[in-house]
This record gives sequence, structure tokens and C-alpha cells, in this order.
Amino acid sequence: MRGMFITAEGTDGAGKSTQLELIKEYLKGKKAIFLREPGGTAISEKIRELILDTQNTEMSAQTEALLYAASRTQLVNEVILPALEAGTNVVCDRYIDSSVAYQGYARGLGADTVEGINRFALENCVPDLTLFFDLPPEKGILRKNSQHKLDRIEQESMDFHRKVYEGYIKLCEKYPQRIRRIDASLDVGAVFALVKKELDSLRWD
Ligand code: TYD
Repeated sequence: MRGMFITAEGTDGAGKSTQLELIKEYLKGKKAIFLREPGGTAISEKIRELILDTQNTEMSAQTEALLYAASRTQLVNEVILPALEAGTNVVCDRYIDSSVAYQGYARGLGADTVEGINRFALENCVPDLTLFFDLPPEKGILRKNSQHKLDRIEQESMDFHRKVYEGYIKLCEKYPQRIRRIDASLDVGAVFALVKKELDSLRWD
């Protein structure tokens, strides 16, 4: 049987990483791999460095969108599809919805344009479930700032992160079956209870 494909999404600092650690623990008995985007293959990690380097201030929005899609298609072909076909479950930290929210909505390239680029890149490899960790960006970026030095995307203005957030809300409305909104303003345990409910609703073998 084909594996389950689950992705996690949210604005910067929404608490995704903490929840992904808990998900890893929860899925321990199942065959699963955990990935993060951009990255996950040698080529994709190199693309990640290019994209997130704070020195690359001249990068155009189009270049950025294409690089994310290039990193993604490499990950899909090299890792995700072979794993799913072998019956391994795949959990990925960020995926296509990040590109639509960040490059499509916040950078202003347009949701349809960015979805189109990704449709070409992904060959129909759509998640079975997407968990959207819903936290207003004003709260999230404060959390990140206190944890580490911000990367090129995190350094964007609050207006940018607001647009990312609004983009995600539109995606939730467009794909209500696939994307589940998780209230990430609750405490860690309460958020994970909501996550567990979604995970338990999937068809596991
Ligand atoms: P990362 O350090 O992995 O952030 P996080 O822990 O918040 O996931 O950096 C990824 C950054 O890249 C993050 O700010 C979101 C952004 N991003 C896009 O703009 N488009 C994309 O398609 C993806 C996958 C990420």
C-alpha cells in the first residue's frame, strides 16, 4: 500500500518545529521519513543555501519561486515518490503551499502562477493531509527573533508576513479537504491534541 504524505505549513515562528518533533515521536511505530523544505537532497540543500543567504539581496521574486520549485521537484523525484511507492509514510516541513503563500501572495507573483510552476514541478504529488499551524505573524516573528539570527526570508517586513498569513487563509478556504487549520496559539499539548486528531483520521495500514 502507498504511504501517507503529510505536510506542515505556517508563517515563521508558528511552532511547526516543536509539533513536528512530537509527530515524529507519535509515528514511531510506523515506517516514516521526515523531510524539510527547501532541502532534503544534496542538490536541494545547495539551492537552500542560495535562497536563504542574506547576501543575496538582488534575487528576483521569479528566481526565488523557480529555485523553490527546483529544490522541490528534486526532492519529489529523488526521495518522496520512491518512498511513498515503497509504502513509507512521508512527513514534510513545508511544501507547495509555502510557495503559494510566500511567493504567490506575499511576493505578489500570483497564486495561480506559482501553483502552475509547481504543478509542472510536482507531477501530481499532492499531500494527503496538510496541517496549517495558524498563528498571527505578529506573534510568530517575535518568537523567532528571540531564538536565532533571522534568515533572508524571516527578515522581511511585517507587511510581508501578514500577506503570507492571508495567503494561507485563502489556501485553507480553497482546499478545505486537504488543509486542516490548527490553532497554534494554544499551549504545546493542546496544539498536539488537535494534530493527533487529524493524524488519527488518516487511513494507516
Ligand atoms: P526555514 O529556516 O526552514 O524556516 P521554517 O523553520 O520557518 O520552516 O526556512 C524556510 C524559509 O523559506 C521560510 O521563511 C519560508 C520560506 N519558504 C518560501 O518562501 N517558499 C517556499 O516554497 C518554502 C518551502 C519556504
